[in-house]
Amino acid sequence: MTPTKLQAMHDALAKDEDGFWLDQARSRLDWIEEPNEAGDWSFDANDFHIRWFADGKLNLSANCIDRHLDTRGGQTAIVFEGDEPGEGYELSYRDLHAEVCRFANVLKSRGVAKGDRVTIYMPMIPEAAFAMLACARIGAVHSVVFGGFSPDSLAGRIRDCESSVLVTADGGRRGGKSIPLKANADTALESCPDVHSVILVRRTGDDVPVVEGRDVWWHDARESVDADCPPEPMAAEDPLFILYTSGSTGKPKGVLHTTGGYLLWVTFTYRLLFGPEEGQDVAEDLFWCTADVGWITGHSYVVYGPLSNGARTVMFDGVPNYPDPGRFWETSHRLGVSVFYTAPTAIRALMREGDDWVTQHDRSQLRLLGTVGEPINPEAWKWYSTVVGEGRCPVVDTWWQTETGGTMIAPVPGAVETKPGSATRPLPGVRPQLVDAEGGELDGAAEGNLCLTASWPGQMRTVYGDHERFFQTYFSTYPGRYFTGDGCRRDEDGYYWITGRVDDVINVSGHRMGTAEVESALVAHPNVAEAAVVGMPHEIKGQGIYAYVTLNADAAESDELREELRQWVRKEIGPIATPDALQFAPALPKTRSGKIMRRILRKIAEGQPDQVGDVSTLADPAVVEDLKKNALV
Ligand code: WTA
Repeated sequence: MTPTKLQAMHDALAKDEDGFWLDQARSRLDWIEEPNEAGDWSFDANDFHIRWFADGKLNLSANCIDRHLDTRGGQTAIVFEGDEPGEGYELSYRDLHAEVCRFANVLKSRGVAKGDRVTIYMPMIPEAAFAMLACARIGAVHSVVFGGFSPDSLAGRIRDCESSVLVTADGGRRGGKSIPLKANADTALESCPDVHSVILVRRTGDDVPVVEGRDVWWHDARESVDADCPPEPMAAEDPLFILYTSGSTGKPKGVLHTTGGYLLWVTFTYRLLFGPEEGQDVAEDLFWCTADVGWITGHSYVVYGPLSNGARTVMFDGVPNYPDPGRFWETSHRLGVSVFYTAPTAIRALMREGDDWVTQHDRSQLRLLGTVGEPINPEAWKWYSTVVGEGRCPVVDTWWQTETGGTMIAPVPGAVETKPGSATRPLPGVRPQLVDAEGGELDGAAEGNLCLTASWPGQMRTVYGDHERFFQTYFSTYPGRYFTGDGCRRDEDGYYWITGRVDDVINVSGHRMGTAEVESALVAHPNVAEAAVVGMPHEIKGQGIYAYVTLNADAAESDELREELRQWVRKEIGPIATPDALQFAPALPKTRSGKIMRRILRKIAEGQPDQVGDVSTLADPAVVEDLKKNALV
């Protein structure tokens, strides 16, 4: 897009915001009843509400599939690439229509109706997308749980949203290894008595137990249902999905997105950032977003954004370094990927393996590179741009969150100059504000906490089952504004540089972990009296997990116990939560009122023990000396 065209969008918005969004909604989506209302919202405590296009009616699955059938029925919708190179196949929009309809009919045959919650615990295979789109087709609300989460984490999420149906697979394959999804699901379901049906997809062919009456094989069930299922008319504000994400306190929150606003936001941002120029066919590109559907990036930019636009999207069920660190580039070339979107942690890991793994593969078909999930350091940005992109491909660093539905701050290719390490400027309709600790607005070049002062269509609408927590978490710190939880710097050109989380959330390889979750897993171990968890700098993951553990009086410190505790957390939550460092601490630094002073723990974990600052308010300042002496960094 040219700078002039982007400016014209900003101008149109400034002149008539409602008119702009109604135009976008009507032109980019197919409505059963077109909306006449755009945004209707207030972030104030006494009138708190967020609605977009509330009088419109549509169906998301019809937007992602049916509306393309006349013009692109035979065109590829999904290119599946398995764990083994070349293990895959393509599905056309017509194929996708039939499979999603069948999946919807199978769900219906198990009693799923509009508004019911369905949990999806799957590998990165097309059937995961069928299940998501099938839910949307019949108005059921999906909750996708990342396949790397433990049985306990899965069970907690199933119970929280009260789903009675689970979609899973016999197993998964990642980097040549098996992931026992069905076994995990069976363990989880021992504590989920309300789940009456499991739709089981065959992926690995492993022999798995099938519970009579509860479990049905997808490949059997699909034979006995119709390949057509009419899409359910949904109000724009009807719930679309729940996705659990970590916060600074308590258990993960069920972030709830609704139908119309979310779909518009991912359709709009996909086209703006990753599509070709308006007027050109979006299917000229092959788009590969490497995220898993268990995260928001997979929802918005593997499935919904690309399909709503009629694009061709890749679903990859493998890992970046299998069978070797050239996998991304070998596969990109073989499939003809032109737009590639991944996370900084993957870029850093591949950068370390050396340039040969990249340069031995022809990359001339690539035209655009994207990144998401965490701050990208300028060194990795430059490597991505020059070595992978041959200096030819714009690098689009996209800042956003599970809560925002889609991208918020990013360079629109062609229209916004990039700077290595900056997500650059807000997209149309996004109103960032930097504030100091008291909430005072900071002007011009400044560094502070990042808020958003206005709603946008893709904004989450509530925390499932806890609307009060939604308000408290995001709107009470700085009244009248949405607080992102991120720190940010704005330079003299008005460019935004996200500096990372300022709350108790750790971003490990682009995956959010709440310190409270890891702490509660640790204290559940019989030998542990107390635990405090903070982030530590990590060369590849961005941030690693540093745990301080106080043992019960009758337990002895040992390397075996340290390893046992790391494995314990891995089993309780999942591999991504495994502490990178675990320090035994006879005591934690507490104030006289018993509050743990995390600032001190953070500084020690960051390798800056001389910067812990004033410790005079601690109940026992001597604790700090011991912590420093035994620090692991
Ligand atoms: C971080 C992922 C810097 C940020 C889409 C945010 C980023 C959190 C970027 C959300 C980026 C995401 N630059 N930081 N381009 N993208 N983040 O919910 O801290 O998994 O708050 O959403 O990731 O993580 P989430």
